[in-house]
Amino acid sequence: MQTVRTSTALRSAVAAWRQDQERIAFVPTMGNLHAGHLELVEHAARLADRVVVSIFVNPMQFGQGEDYENYPRTLSEDSTRLAETCVSLLFAPAVEAKYPAGCQYVTRVEVEGLSDILCGAARPGHFVGVATVVAKLFNLVQPDVAVFGEKDYQQLLVIRRMVADLCFPIDIVGVPTVREPDGLAMSSRNSYLTADERERAPLLYRALCEAAERLQGGERDFRAIEAAGEARLRAAGFGPDYFTIRRALDLMPPGTADKELVILAAARLGQARLIDNLPVSLKDKI
Ligand code: PAF
Repeated sequence: MQTVRTSTALRSAVAAWRQDQERIAFVPTMGNLHAGHLELVEHAARLADRVVVSIFVNPMQFGQGEDYENYPRTLSEDSTRLAETCVSLLFAPAVEAKYPAGCQYVTRVEVEGLSDILCGAARPGHFVGVATVVAKLFNLVQPDVAVFGEKDYQQLLVIRRMVADLCFPIDIVGVPTVREPDGLAMSSRNSYLTADERERAPLLYRALCEAAERLQGGERDFRAIEAAGEARLRAAGFGPDYFTIRRALDLMPPGTADKELVILAAARLGQARLIDNLPVSLKDKI
């Protein structure tokens, strides 16, 4: 595995592969890699000849008072883990390389609407930061396909919409969430949990499963199901930002005729803000 720190080195490596007609898959990350990331890498390897991974903790997607400073940075461990996989190239730029004028960037990519709801409402500017950095990375790597985790479901939809609207010739592939044995979705932010919080954390997934069971059982009072999920989280000491049932396609509130749904939740537990979701298909239900 080759590691490059600059856009110039990245471009020249990728150009050589392109010349050889090789197909390139890209996995953007913020590092602190866990089994969920490695699953994205494995998935990417099945879709292309070359896999490029980026590690960049993107300041633009963190709000005031969020965990940008404390976000776990483990480049040397990450690099060792990636070297054991089929990754061809690790792109790990410095902040100055990515935002040459410091953080005074004036060009932004905003996917209106989708960026302002749910996590976008709780974290203003977050998805503009994500879409902008992903657009920059796409321009540098120019992959044929890019792979994202479904755990960040709203992010995946934002990227899909950006790619469609800005005509990036890139397939966007979502990979199902990887979970710990007790159901907790894998996340770098799980490391913020104390031992006691870690024990309670899987309740987030259990609450989503209970809501899914009610939908699968034919219940269509979305408000009641959402209220029950939120109450369950509060009772266990979580501070929920939302627990909501949406249309899987566009995250709009569903009607009773909608069949492809997703239940999404975000909640604070101690220092951590946990997010999770569960897609629910009611296609085969009456
Ligand atoms: O999902 C992430 O880790 C980040 O939001 C991403 C897509 C790498 C952009 O910084």
